[in-house]
Amino acid sequence: MWYHFEEGSSFSQGALKLSARVLNGIAIRDQIYGELKQEIAALGAAGIRPGLAAVLVGENPASQIYVRSKIAACEQLGLGSWLHTPSAAVTTEEMLSLVAELNARDDVDGILVQLPLPPQVDTKAVLEAVDPAKDVDGFHPVNLGRLVSGRAGLVACTPAGCMEILRRSGIAVEGANAAVVGRSDIVGKPMALLLVHANATVTICHSKTRDLAGVVRQADIVVAAIGRAAMIEPEWVRPGATVIDVGTTRVTDAAQVERIFANYPARLAQFREKGFTLVGDVHPDVAEVAGAITPVPGGVGPLTIAMLMSNTVKAARLRRTPKASTNTPPNTTSNTASMKTPGAAAAKS
Ligand code: GUN
Repeated sequence: MWYHFEEGSSFSQGALKLSARVLNGIAIRDQIYGELKQEIAALGAAGIRPGLAAVLVGENPASQIYVRSKIAACEQLGLGSWLHTPSAAVTTEEMLSLVAELNARDDVDGILVQLPLPPQVDTKAVLEAVDPAKDVDGFHPVNLGRLVSGRAGLVACTPAGCMEILRRSGIAVEGANAAVVGRSDIVGKPMALLLVHANATVTICHSKTRDLAGVVRQADIVVAAIGRAAMIEPEWVRPGATVIDVGTTRVTDAAQVERIFANYPARLAQFREKGFTLVGDVHPDVAEVAGAITPVPGGVGPLTIAMLMSNTVKAARLRRTPKASTNTPPNTTSNTASMKTPGAAAAKS
């Protein structure tokens, strides 16, 4: 088996000397925040303060944590933020009326409706009601259509963040074989489109994929977004491959944690102290085989929020400045675009 030891880039989680380069999402997020602060200052000089309105329905603990982090990021960057918290009994009509109110406000540049919504609410109707110009989640069909056809638009934050990790880490995407494991509307599908626009050859894998391990083993880039703790095993991964782990499952079962982190005593000690741990879709031992890997936590997660901030700033610039370009390519931060426009890539078929 081929191991990739690089001076200064290998890491240890308390026991094994691991071979993979760790793609540090916190450092990349901080780099993006540094760039965004300059753009926010420039907008501020023109009297514009980008603002995000978050809608958090009910009391889902995971959603509460996510939304709190998003509001905290707005505060850290000096963006405006508003939190709306309808009760879990809210109706579709009430949600539509709240969205209409936010659409009409000039100081609201981005509208984020945290998912999942309760079952009585028509999620699709609510997402379609958001003004596409304020759709900082990139979930509106207009923005999804723009992404499919390689037009500029607002792109879903998690896949856009994965692309930023690849780009800023110097991972070659063009010509690479990529496997996206998971086909959700929020991550898998937009992720596959972004990789195709960056000229990768992409396979979208899902629960019915035959010989999933064999398909993943062909990939130079694996994006795991299935939501099943530690599902991607070391034997599934081609030595030297880049592995992007989108999963974050909160695991409390001690036997499961001990099985997954058998080689990581420090991690086990941390679990025993806290009573839970966050586990990605990728088994931690994959770090012995991969060339580069995102950790969980501290990999993709920080980028999801960074891209939400980036989309909010971009939405403000496009909507509120007179000469804003409408040609900023998707999947890049607002003023640091260096990838080709998807349109250019798509035109070549
Ligand atoms: N629920 C889980 N992920 C997301 C996300 O990226 N955006 C929203 N709005 N809800 C989510």
